[in-house]
Amino acid sequence: MGKNQDEEEGNLSHNTKAVISLDERFVMQTYSRFPVVPVRAKGVKVWDCDGKEYIDCVSGIAVLNVGHRHPRILKVLKEQAEQLMHISNHFYIEQQAKASEYLAKIAPKPLEKTFWGNSGTEAVEAALKLAIKYTGKHEFIAAQGSFHGRTMGALATTWNEHYRAPYAPFGINAKFVPFNDLQAIKEAVSKDTAGIILEPVQGQGGVNIPSNGYLEAVRELCDEKEILLIFDEVQTGFGRTGKLWAGEHWNVVPDIMPLAKALGGGISSGACIAKEEIAKAFDHGAHGTTFGGNPLACALSLEAMKIVVEENLSERAAELGKKAVKQLKELKEDLEIIKDVRGIGLLIGIEVSKDAKKLCLEMIKKGILITYTAEKVIRVIPPLVIKEEELEKALNIIAEGFKQH
Ligand SMILES: Cc1ncc(COP(=O)(O)O)c(C=O)c1O
Repeated sequence: MGKNQDEEEGNLSHNTKAVISLDERFVMQTYSRFPVVPVRAKGVKVWDCDGKEYIDCVSGIAVLNVGHRHPRILKVLKEQAEQLMHISNHFYIEQQAKASEYLAKIAPKPLEKTFWGNSGTEAVEAALKLAIKYTGKHEFIAAQGSFHGRTMGALATTWNEHYRAPYAPFGINAKFVPFNDLQAIKEAVSKDTAGIILEPVQGQGGVNIPSNGYLEAVRELCDEKEILLIFDEVQTGFGRTGKLWAGEHWNVVPDIMPLAKALGGGISSGACIAKEEIAKAFDHGAHGTTFGGNPLACALSLEAMKIVVEENLSERAAELGKKAVKQLKELKEDLEIIKDVRGIGLLIGIEVSKDAKKLCLEMIKKGILITYTAEKVIRVIPPLVIKEEELEKALNIIAEGFKQH
């Protein structure tokens, strides 16, 4: 934050200023944050430290599909915390087994076996390691605009050969090809390709939706060349795009599917589910983690998955998303500042020609939490439990924010 923060962002309260000052002093400054200090939330509403109310159009970046503090999540949180929060993967964990069973039930068939971690990047790491272990190859094809996480190097610096050797040499060899370009993927495949990793719909890349036929053809290519298809559904999974899995829009089933974000219902949880035959490559000691799959995270993951299914949140996302995209496209007709509107379910991107951060700040001041990605794409990703009138209100604030510029 610069010196003229108040002038740029409106008069900040003493509380907000105090938290910002602590953050700047003691937190590594890796995030460019908006000057809001949320302290409480319920459903789709969030309140900051001054009592100001917001409609959440961020969902903790596609985490809170079931909304903040869903009563069923709170109940399980309390009950499980009173019994057992953490133990160790050296023992059998009932909640992990049950959450895996349920995930296998709702995942695209025949994905069946799960490895549990704590985050999206860990889920992707597990997927890449599994693909290396299964194929014995190290090259991956990924898409331009992709986002799969930020880990690096921990295993490369782990001394014990037992953990390290099956995956060495380190540094994944990734070839990047334009998203939605089948020919480019075909040309990138080599004898060393272990797999192709794609987000079926790119999230951080700016909400990029592939053309019909692309993912289907990539699946065929993988089958023909005997390479693995990894769909990173960390952001798109659990109903966000209007289907339980984004791959379902095109009836394409990957071989391995990393998941996280909405999985834990608000608590960190990650999972990598794969076909049985591939999953076998992860034998004893092949991968592991201290916290992944702990009883609390798994009890909550199971409940969050059930809520998404039992409350038909995919269908809700499809229906509400369609209306929102229609409305935003109409707005685009009137406003030059909006360059494009892309949406699938409640994963919506509004590409703008002006400073997206400034626009978000305006909208935040008017009472919604909203962020942007890929520099110029404002993302609307509310909890899937949002009521129609709440979404309407949020869209009105977005429209007002645009009209002011
Ligand atoms: C598609 C995708 N994969 C992986 C990740 C990384 O997840 P995490 O931030 O939980 O490590 C993200 C995060 O935004 C994501 O959108």
